[in-house]
This record gives sequence, C-alpha cells and structure tokens, in this order.
Amino acid sequence: MKTYRDHYFLKARREHYPARSIYKLQEMDKRFRLFRPGMRVLDLGAAPGSWSLGAAERVGPKGLVIGADIRPPATPFPPQVRFLREDIFAKTQAFADMIREEGPFDVVLSDMAPNTTGHRATDQARSAALCGEALALAVSCLIKGGSFVVKVFMGPEVKSYLERLGGLFQQARAFKPAGSRPESMETFAVALGFRGLPPPAAGPLPQPSLPSPPG
Ligand SMILES: C[S@@+](CC[C@H](N)C(=O)[O-])C[C@H]1O[C@@H](n2cnc3c(N)ncnc32)[C@H](O)[C@@H]1O
Repeated sequence: MKTYRDHYFLKARREHYPARSIYKLQEMDKRFRLFRPGMRVLDLGAAPGSWSLGAAERVGPKGLVIGADIRPPATPFPPQVRFLREDIFAKTQAFADMIREEGPFDVVLSDMAPNTTGHRATDQARSAALCGEALALAVSCLIKGGSFVVKVFMGPEVKSYLERLGGLFQQARAFKPAGSRPESMETFAVALGFRGLPPPAAGPLPQPSLPSPPG
C-alpha cells in the first residue's frame, strides 16, 4: 500500500504537480481523448491545482481553463488558467458572469469531494449533492458534443446518476483510473457527446381544439 501511494505522490512531486490526482486525469484523457488545443475547460473543485495545470498543458496557450474551488490553489498557473474562490452551492455573481462571458465550454470537469466524515452514507449523500450541482452547471454551459467528467462516491445514487447522464450525453460510463486508490470509494463518471438542451419553445402557444359545431 505504501509503495502504491508513494509511487504517484513522488511522481507528482518530481513532475511539479501539487497533487497525485493529475495521473487520474491524464489516464482519462488518454482513454477518452478529452482535450484538444484551443479548448475551453471548466474545472470544479480545482484546488490544489493539478487538474487545472494538466488541462492547461493540453489546451495550450490558445485555450482557457477556469478553475473554481472553496480553497485557494497551491501552485502558480500559466496565463490560460483563471481561478476563482467559489462554493458551488453559493455561486457568486462574478462566477456566473465569468461562466456566461467565457463559455460555452468544451469540457466540464468536477473532482469535487466533500470533507469525509467516515460515515459512508453521509459521505455518499454529500458527494451526490456535489455531483448534482456539477451536472446542473455542466448542462447550462457545455457546447453540444461537449464532455463532462465527474468524481462520484460509489453509492445507491450512482446508477440513477449514470442513467441521467445517459439521457443527456451520447455515452456515459463509470471509470476507475489506476491512480485512484482501490480502497477509495471514489470513481469517475465520464460522459461524452453532450446532446445539447432542447431549444426553448418559440411562437404562439398552441390553441386548444374547439369542439365541432353540432349538426
Ligand atoms: C480531490 S480535491 C480536487 C483536486 C484537484 N482536482 C487537483 O487536481 O488539484 C477536491 C476539492 O473539492 C473542493 N470542494 C469541495 N466542496 C466544494 C464546493 N462546495 N465548492 C467548490 N469546491 C469544493 C475541495 O475544496 C477540494 O479542493
């Protein structure tokens, strides 16, 4: 166990990432081809900063990564990363404005995790609440065809969450990267090919059909 943890921890330190989580994102990117140069990425739960750094490397200087977290980052970012201190449950107007002005996004990432209590059901419910907020935000700001990657804690809600993703995206599946500790209840939902929101109803309201005149 020690060797396993040390491997990713030491590799992250050697490669100047603030957290070992970078290797989970790299594996998902390799497997699902999440990023291309020039893409716009929203990264929720972005502190200490490994995913934002990794995404910034992949989208390059012409891309954009917006990171948001309650906590501050622990690393300097390149110019294509903008970071906001933000609680996803109490979003500020500045955040909403930035999402509107800088979106839509090609990829929405959420590695958000609650502070765990050790009480499984409580931790799962808190994670599920974060996943719900991340999905609501993703649906509001993804391009058609866009991708959504979200950390989920395995629990009773995961099946219905994946089904919901399956309705909104062309593909949705659970994926546990090698960099995720086997004993951890985290896994990731990877949803590709956002179908887009149905266009708002336009034009006059349909008229109720009148009963035909007698005779
Ligand atoms: C596993 S860490 C993310 C690591 C990050 N992806 C990286 O690579 O550096 C989970 C993060 O979720 C954040 N988080 C938890 N609840 C949140 C909330 N309500 N709003 C925003 N961020 C939240 C935590 O502060 C924490 O930094």
